[in-house]
Amino acid sequence: MKTKFKDFYLIDHPLVKRDVSLIRDYSSHQVIFRSALKRISTVLAVEVSKNFNIKPYQVKTPLEKTEGFKLNQEIVLVPVLRAGLGMVSGFVDIIPDIKLGHIGIQRNEKTLQPEVYYFKTPKHISSSKVILVDPMLATGGSASQALTHLKNNGAKDLIFVCLVAAPTGIKKIQKDHKDVKIIGAALDRELNSKGYILPGLGDAGDRTFGTL
Ligand code: PRP
Ligand code: URA
Repeated sequence: MKTKFKDFYLIDHPLVKRDVSLIRDYSSHQVIFRSALKRISTVLAVEVSKNFNIKPYQVKTPLEKTEGFKLNQEIVLVPVLRAGLGMVSGFVDIIPDIKLGHIGIQRNEKTLQPEVYYFKTPKHISSSKVILVDPMLATGGSASQALTHLKNNGAKDLIFVCLVAAPTGIKKIQKDHKDVKIIGAALDRELNSKGYILPGLGDAGDRTFGTL
């Protein structure tokens, strides 16, 4: 559904609300956290794929020929390391031929700015639809840096998909990347003094990978 943020679209679905609650719950075991994140990612993948271009072609059924459809554009999924990895399998389940890139971002301890430490994508991202995924959009520093890096490497058709978004992060993406739409499963209130989303779910990477 539309929100007060022009380019932020929020999934409004009972099962997603149930799964976001499981993910928020501090007592949810890693198994519950991971499986809920995967289910939400599948719904996000369905939503994002509504805008994919398709082209018609002739399919031969066992009885006759009919019109079929195939995707008209290569789709590239780029998880932000680490926590974005938890969203990959939900996308792959419904877009099995999706290509995968990876981008690693960490904060420079001196400048406190997010910096790219790893980057690998399939060739031809300039003609692909590129979906950047990261569960958390907090200050927006990581996602904005990742989008800039993808653009510098040729990506033109980009969308950002997250689990939980904070207003600060949405505003940063809107300011830095006016051409990029965001889809999320929850819109939270604010950030605390350490940049954590409130009410949030804590550290998404630690909860996904059990490194608490
Ligand atoms: C988390 C999250 C985002 C980033 C969001 O990663 O997965 O990448 O923080 O914060 P921001 O919007 O303020 O940039 P983190 O840096 O904790 O790394 P991790 O995935 O390795 O845990
Ligand atoms: N990164 C996280 O993992 N959680 C937050 O709340 C903010 C940034």
